[in-house]
Amino acid sequence: MSMQHDIGVAVIGMGWMGQAHSRAYRRVPDIFHDYGIQPRLVVIADPVPSRRQEAVARFGFDHAVSDWREAIDQPGVDVVVVATPNAEHAEVAIAAASAGKHVFCEKPVGRTLAETTAVAEAVRHAGVQGGVGFNYRWAPMVQYAASLVRDGRLGTITHYRSRFFSMYGSNPMSQLSWRFDRDAAGLGVLGDLMPHVADMAQLLLGPIRQVSATTQTHIPRRPIPVPGRGTHFTLGQPDDPTGPVTNEDDATVPVRFASGVHGVLDASRVIFGPKCEFGFEIFGTAGAIRWNFEAMNELLVYLPDMTGLSGDHRHHDGFVRLLSSPDHPYHGRFNPAAATGLGYDDLKTIEAAEFLHRVANGTGPGPTLDDAVAAAQVAASADHASRSGGWVTVGD
Ligand SMILES: NC(=O)c1ccc[n+]([C@@H]2O[C@H](COP(=O)([O-])OP(=O)(O)OC[C@H]3O[C@@H](n4cnc5c(N)ncnc54)[C@H](O)[C@@H]3O)[C@@H](O)[C@H]2O)c1
Repeated sequence: MSMQHDIGVAVIGMGWMGQAHSRAYRRVPDIFHDYGIQPRLVVIADPVPSRRQEAVARFGFDHAVSDWREAIDQPGVDVVVVATPNAEHAEVAIAAASAGKHVFCEKPVGRTLAETTAVAEAVRHAGVQGGVGFNYRWAPMVQYAASLVRDGRLGTITHYRSRFFSMYGSNPMSQLSWRFDRDAAGLGVLGDLMPHVADMAQLLLGPIRQVSATTQTHIPRRPIPVPGRGTHFTLGQPDDPTGPVTNEDDATVPVRFASGVHGVLDASRVIFGPKCEFGFEIFGTAGAIRWNFEAMNELLVYLPDMTGLSGDHRHHDGFVRLLSSPDHPYHGRFNPAAATGLGYDDLKTIEAAEFLHRVANGTGPGPTLDDAVAAAQVAASADHASRSGGWVTVGD
């Protein structure tokens, strides 16, 4: 029998992500029973009373407080999960690390590269584990795609294309949530969706060395939301007062990887049509792959049998659609059958389990706060490039 690790968890912020994380922590002893980890939901902090009451009722937290400082100080807390809006990320995460707690912070980890870097430094200085919510990494078909690239199955990589096209802001009546405010959120889509795109690119192909960028804001004013009412998917009413959008709605970012590969990263929060189209395409000299979160349990793979590329076989040459199965990473933990696929919450469960495993054992797969810094560097450089024009070297 492996040792049982009891790990006390504080969740700060009980919106969409706070709820997703709480649900995920509750599932870890089931889906990852072999890890021997027993998370305890010790305390939730949120200034909105209804959010606190709901958290206790739904997830069984022992305590609910309005001030996150009280949550960090609550006896029995080992891990602090920061699921607040971006403006509070750095302050909460740095305070938690300084109190000796392990820190899991939602992306983008602060509003600016300086804030992200400060969190990573506080975590390193405290000698605690740090994690970041780049959940799309954990999809079985993404993990499998990464292994194909790593093993050289695609030959020499020649092109990378990736995009995160979300519809959440496409309706002009979508509320002016904190995401649309530069003071509260920092960057717009470059801070909200591009970090996922940049992290995925760097996971698959290594560091991005240079970026160029164009950005646009399409919807200049939105209805002002009521605190605690709904999520950023909630629509305002026609007679609601409106306020200005102060950061970018979309960004197109040509990149050059350190390996020499060129690519394009695209992100939009106002696109009309795609719902949550986070996809990548990798093309090499011996093969290609295509993945899209909207069909996250599929991977389109082009790995031609070159010996067969003559005569009749040419009629059968093309992309093959693979479906997630127990032969792909993590799938078998959820279902023993092929094509009985995973969903978003399952990625959050894998994320929670791997982070807690790292907390318990001191080692394990990322993403760490260094990965958060690497993604924030790409976003900050793209923001810079969108104003200066031309190419910007990442990290300068
Ligand atoms: N990884 C992902 O796929 C993903 C998806 C959505 C959001 N996010 C990230 O998660 C974070 C939260 O986003 P969300 O969509 O859940 O936001 P949200 O607006 O739905 O929820 C935020 C919650 O934090 C609470 N809050 C505000 N100030 C607080 C404070 N000082 N202390 C404690 N709680 C406070 C709010 O009352 C609210 O309940 C953001 O940083 C966002 O970028 C990540």
